[in-house]
Amino acid sequence: MKILPRSEFFGEFAVPGDKSITHRAVMLNAAAEGEALITGALTGEDCLSTVSCMRALGAKIERDGDRIRVVGAPAFADGQTLYCGNSGTTMRLLAGLLAGRNVRAVLTGDPSLSKRPMERVAAPLRLLGAEVRTQSGFAPIEIGPAALKGCAIQTEVASAQVKSAVILAALGAEGETAVSEKLKTRDHTERMLGAMGAQIELDGNTVRVRKSRLHAADVAVPADISSAAYFMALGALLGETLVRNVGINPTRTGIFTVFDRMGVSYALEGERTVCGEPVADVRVKKSALRPLRLKREDMPSLIDEIPVIAVLCAFADGESVISGAEELRVKESDRIATTAGMLAAVGASVTAKEDGFVIRGKKKIAGGDVDPRLDHRIAMSAAVALCASERGGEIKDAACADISFPNFYSLLG
Ligand code: S3P
Repeated sequence: MKILPRSEFFGEFAVPGDKSITHRAVMLNAAAEGEALITGALTGEDCLSTVSCMRALGAKIERDGDRIRVVGAPAFADGQTLYCGNSGTTMRLLAGLLAGRNVRAVLTGDPSLSKRPMERVAAPLRLLGAEVRTQSGFAPIEIGPAALKGCAIQTEVASAQVKSAVILAALGAEGETAVSEKLKTRDHTERMLGAMGAQIELDGNTVRVRKSRLHAADVAVPADISSAAYFMALGALLGETLVRNVGINPTRTGIFTVFDRMGVSYALEGERTVCGEPVADVRVKKSALRPLRLKREDMPSLIDEIPVIAVLCAFADGESVISGAEELRVKESDRIATTAGMLAAVGASVTAKEDGFVIRGKKKIAGGDVDPRLDHRIAMSAAVALCASERGGEIKDAACADISFPNFYSLLG
């Protein structure tokens, strides 16, 4: 895909639904009693992996554009092999949900997912008494039937996927499970379970869960702030953009902290709450960018936005330092390597570190051809960089953007 340079970028955009919320809306309703309608759902490949796994477990799921109707199957089919594709969220959350349902199942994934760490989920689930086997820490994950008993668990890594897996398993455990995390991660699971009748309480960075049955609940999915980020960045670099109906859950809005630190002019318009999640239209205007410092404690609320934030840093007036970001090494690609590779390929000045980057900003970058290594967020971040570059360039395997943003290039225009 050839990306041409732009002298300016203006427009209003409706970007697809939130990936994290869509996964949970499908998975939890498929495990609930009753029928629910999910609107504004993301129909990227990752969420379709969740749909196909939940169908295999017995739920009836019909899709019509971004509307998904789910009839739950609280008693899961036994003995299924479930293919999770490229989707870490599908595999990790399902591992927890299945562990609490007293069934046998095997979770498999594509070559990228099969290289991502799974003991981080398996180990805490075993503390609840679950029978979970990984292959030396990786998929396939085998789940066996077991009776679970609640306990207190402190997560080792700041990961909403790990926290969610424990919470979902705890729905099937006797007694109370308390899961605590040092840095608060996205809380969509907790919010949605509350709306579905689960016994769940939030107490600072600790979530307390008791054995519960779930009742289906309709979900109107807001636009994904992680997808909106590309169009916000284009506004900040090249003109003005308005992205409508963006989910602004405070566990996800680290990009606004970045805008504050870098001097990006932005405004949240029409703030409202939809299905328990805060939402707003986000306007971003071209701004002179200051260099950025990000540390470990900043990561959970902006982890998926780091590649596009790194693109903003490439245009800032000075040296930006992003540290404490080792988690990037175990995403869909090694995002420290692939973000640095992408920035270097477009002519930016970057040094990769063990736990992040040092990026020396420039007024102009030349452009160039990029291989995003099949990582959707690297491809889309490269597109933003190339729009703002002097010559543009080619993105290899650009269709990998479909994982989270099926109409990305057509919206880009
Ligand atoms: C997600 C959590 C994050 C994020 C991923 C989606 C989720 O991963 O990177 O894209 O839906 O829970 P970790 O929780 O493992 O950091």
